[in-house]
Amino acid sequence: MGDKRSQIIKALKEAKGSPVSGEELGSRLGISRTMIWKYIKSLQADGYEIDSSPKRGYILKSVPQLLYPEEIQMGLKTTLLGKKIHYFEELSSTNSTAKEIALSEEEGALVIAEMQKGGRGRLGREWVSPQGGIWMSIILKPGVPLTHASRLTLVAGLAVANVIRDLGLDARIKWPNDVRVMGRKVCGILTEAKAEVDRVDYVIVGIGINVNMDLKDIPEPLREGSTTLKVELGRHVRRVRFLQDLLFEFEQQYINFKTQPFSQILNDWMALSDTIGREVKVTTPSRIIEGKAVGMTSDGALVIKKSDNTKEEVIAGRCVYEYSK
Ligand code: BTN
Repeated sequence: MGDKRSQIIKALKEAKGSPVSGEELGSRLGISRTMIWKYIKSLQADGYEIDSSPKRGYILKSVPQLLYPEEIQMGLKTTLLGKKIHYFEELSSTNSTAKEIALSEEEGALVIAEMQKGGRGRLGREWVSPQGGIWMSIILKPGVPLTHASRLTLVAGLAVANVIRDLGLDARIKWPNDVRVMGRKVCGILTEAKAEVDRVDYVIVGIGINVNMDLKDIPEPLREGSTTLKVELGRHVRRVRFLQDLLFEFEQQYINFKTQPFSQILNDWMALSDTIGREVKVTTPSRIIEGKAVGMTSDGALVIKKSDNTKEEVIAGRCVYEYSK
């Protein structure tokens, strides 16, 4: 069904507002006019505005503003990411669903939801995911040891920051993986993996981006530290186009990750980081480390120079900037 629907959408889009008859569509796709009509009905039910006149044919008036696989895949320039997309209007968490299907899925498959009811953030926190954002999980099978899998979080942060920068915003990365604009968070990344002793079975890279929401859509306690692309740009963002660009950029970075020394990605990440050079306080389950962030190791650990001039590496934790120091 998906393939024929896509072909009909493509034909109607190519006609650029001129009518295309059911007969012509039917002969192009090798199916009856009645079948074409059934597909048109299902497209209309999904929000495609299609005029039909018995004499002239079908005219595409508008496409829905949703992340339908057909829309994303049309014009997608990737060779790996997004070839298969599991789409949901509502889900508990795309990461949870991705985990359920990851072993039997091909690398590059995506799980996308218009909204999440149980979105999960780092350190067991909730992730607020109303309509208008991009809530997505990418299934990867990089065949690397678990210690290297954490690097994919940096790859993702870099890719997201780059595409937001292409929109004209000064996106920066706060260690370990928040993408921020003007000091406010627009994106969070949650990487989860299943591994054997020597290598990972799969890595799920969950990416949540506040795109077309207003600040009122973000609950009060989080509002102050958060923003959305729409708020920062003062205009609506075409999510389908943005996601296509993100998938392409992520794929380029992923190819680099697999084929080049990691130092390249690390350097690019550091150049966009707004953590390096700052006084920070990092809280881990067992301790608090304070000092100046002076670098990052190739596995993504933050290097902190403490007041006694010794250095310490922290692999995970909650990081706050200490402005008063
Ligand atoms: C964080 O900054 O705490 C990470 C947030 C990650 C949110 C994304 S949204 C898509 C995917 N599904 C989830 O449940 N979480 C991630």
